[in-house]
Amino acid sequence: MRLALLGCGTVGGEVVRLLHEQSADLAARIGAPLEIAGIAVRRLGRDRGDLPVDPALFTTDALGLIKRDDVDVVVEVVGGIEPARGWLVEALRAGKSVVTANKALLAEDGAALHDATAEGGGDLYYEAAVAGAIPLLRPLRESLHGDRINRVTGIVNGTTNFILSAMDATGAGFAEALEEATELGYAEADPTADVEGFDAAAKAAILASLAFHTRVGAADVHREGITEVTAADVASAKAMGCTIKLLCIAARGADATGRETVSVRVHPAMIPLAHPLASVGDAYNAVFVEAEAAGPLMFYGRGAGGAPTASAVLGDVVAVSRNRLAGVRAASESAYADLPVRPMGEALTRYHISLDVADRPGVLAAVAGVFARHDVSIATVRQGPAGGGAAGRGEDADLVIVTHVAPDAALAATVRELRGLDIVRSVASVLRVEGGL
Ligand code: NDP
Ligand code: HSE
Repeated sequence: MRLALLGCGTVGGEVVRLLHEQSADLAARIGAPLEIAGIAVRRLGRDRGDLPVDPALFTTDALGLIKRDDVDVVVEVVGGIEPARGWLVEALRAGKSVVTANKALLAEDGAALHDATAEGGGDLYYEAAVAGAIPLLRPLRESLHGDRINRVTGIVNGTTNFILSAMDATGAGFAEALEEATELGYAEADPTADVEGFDAAAKAAILASLAFHTRVGAADVHREGITEVTAADVASAKAMGCTIKLLCIAARGADATGRETVSVRVHPAMIPLAHPLASVGDAYNAVFVEAEAAGPLMFYGRGAGGAPTASAVLGDVVAVSRNRLAGVRAASESAYADLPVRPMGEALTRYHISLDVADRPGVLAAVAGVFARHDVSIATVRQGPAGGGAAGRGEDADLVIVTHVAPDAALAATVRELRGLDIVRSVASVLRVEGGL
């Protein structure tokens, strides 16, 4: 098996190292030796340390490498939309098998890759694209194909999980925790894709597509990042026996006519400490899958880093290589269900709302009236003196309201109206609540 490696950075470098260290085992598992035909990079002169590879294999001509007749498998660990999309479509149409970790591309234009795979007859594998080392996509795409998945809830971004875990452990604010994540090498120089939720949204789209046999793209995912999460939110969650996590949630539902739908969203949410995802700390990832017959399943492990991600890439390389040798291919994309994606406003969520209100007769009734007008049912109300102390600030009170499940649009409208009331001095925090409370 001859392999073209596109990219030799954090992940690609580890792919090269593992291919070298495990060449005999990999050959035995595949049934043929695995050789690198070439490695496409951007900078030929870059210092690549003591990488165990012949320097003559490096090229800047990725397309030329892909088109070579002696290349069977193309491994793409470059990232980004272009030129990766053009390369992979070319490779797949030519019947080569492709292994990629490129979640951004899969979520942006998975259709182009799947269509090219169907045309060329090779395989398209992408286990590393979601949750790094964790075997997750293969179980969704194969092991659970006899079952019906109802919901997938996950922590799929290590950087934001590190930041939120640090905020929870130390009481630090977002900026301070981000600085620590950057110093320790978790956050990239430009952390936008992680902290604004783009990375998690791409992964959510891929998970939803596989779980619900429906093409879901990045544009279908409601996305909110963690930049607005404050130390006060984290303290508020703690007071409720909860922690805050950036969750990706993909769930089946039904619209007003009863037609089956899916909703896919990424946002910070409070979850009770007893929830299986609450104890996922540091930069770890975990995904909780709820299937009809199997029940709840939890997948946990390292979601990023060179070696963990390379492990997933090599698992795919072995799978596609064995398929090629056997003259078979994996089952093609399963998108037969083609379920409509519900807008966020119709997603069913719960809110935890902290208000600073005037402490005088009728205020509670007025606040409750706003919820009632929007048909949002209140689950719990907790009131204390503003500022938390026994004496408080005297004229104000802190009001913490947790709602029952309601459409997100109704909850958002409730908060908008609350903000406009003169008895509401401020809306201190609004967080979605997941996983019971
Ligand atoms: P890096 O930035 O470390 O490496 C990117 C590699 O691509 C480099 O070798 C670079 O070349 C090469 N490259 C960039 N542009 C071009 C180009 N135009 N032509 C040829 N080569 C090019 O990225 P990572 O290894 O971190 O990530 C790779 C992929 O894996 C991405 O899709 C990422 O989302 C995904 N991924 C990464 C994870 C991680 O923990 N890092 C985890 C899961 C998935 P040069 O070396 O010359 O600069
Ligand atoms: N930036 C990503 C994370 C890398 O922090 O999880 C893995 O996809």
